Amino acid sequence: MNKLPQLFANNRRWASSIEKTDPDFFKTLARQQKPDYLWIGCSDSRVPANEIVGLMPGELFVHRNVANLVVHTDMNCLSVIQYAVEVLNVKHIMVCGHYGCGGIIAATEDKTHGLIDNWLRHIRDVRSIHLDELKGLGDKPTMLNRLCELNVIRQVSNVCQTTIVQDAWARKRPLAVHGWIYGIEDGLLRNLDVCVAGRRDFKRVFGG
Ligand code: CO
Repeated sequence: MNKLPQLFANNRRWASSIEKTDPDFFKTLARQQKPDYLWIGCSDSRVPANEIVGLMPGELFVHRNVANLVVHTDMNCLSVIQYAVEVLNVKHIMVCGHYGCGGIIAATEDKTHGLIDNWLRHIRDVRSIHLDELKGLGDKPTMLNRLCELNVIRQVSNVCQTTIVQDAWARKRPLAVHGWIYGIEDGLLRNLDVCVAGRRDFKRVFGG
């Protein structure tokens, strides 16, 4: 059986390098986690949450799935949001998409991909809503990039509409939801300027 020894070797090197700068790092962390942020991102291996924002273990609570979707009935994602908001008291939730997202590309293709098409259906819905804008963009790469952004914006709206975030705002808890997009070609984050920090903010950004 292949026990992937190189990964265990990497792990020992990583753990000892951290302990070299802070001998109590893991002991302290084992007692509790106090992250200020919840990251909702894509599963894509090129978008590693902690590394991108330079945060250490214990500083970022993470949920990742294909195309960083927040589906209203996804108990996995909702449970993560609930734990992050109500137990860990995170102050910020960032939905972070990325350009070149395979999920976004697959959702726009005229072929089937099996089971995952049911998941990607949510992206097709986003595309339907914004079809006029997307058609007006002309070339396909520009259209795909914009759909990656529109998908993030939609998921920010979905996070804001969860009972969890609505309840937190009703209790006057400081909690902001952000929409970001990451460039796999340059390693840089861009802010999509849809930050929402309360119910009034939500109306201003999303209307309704
Ligand atoms: Co992706």
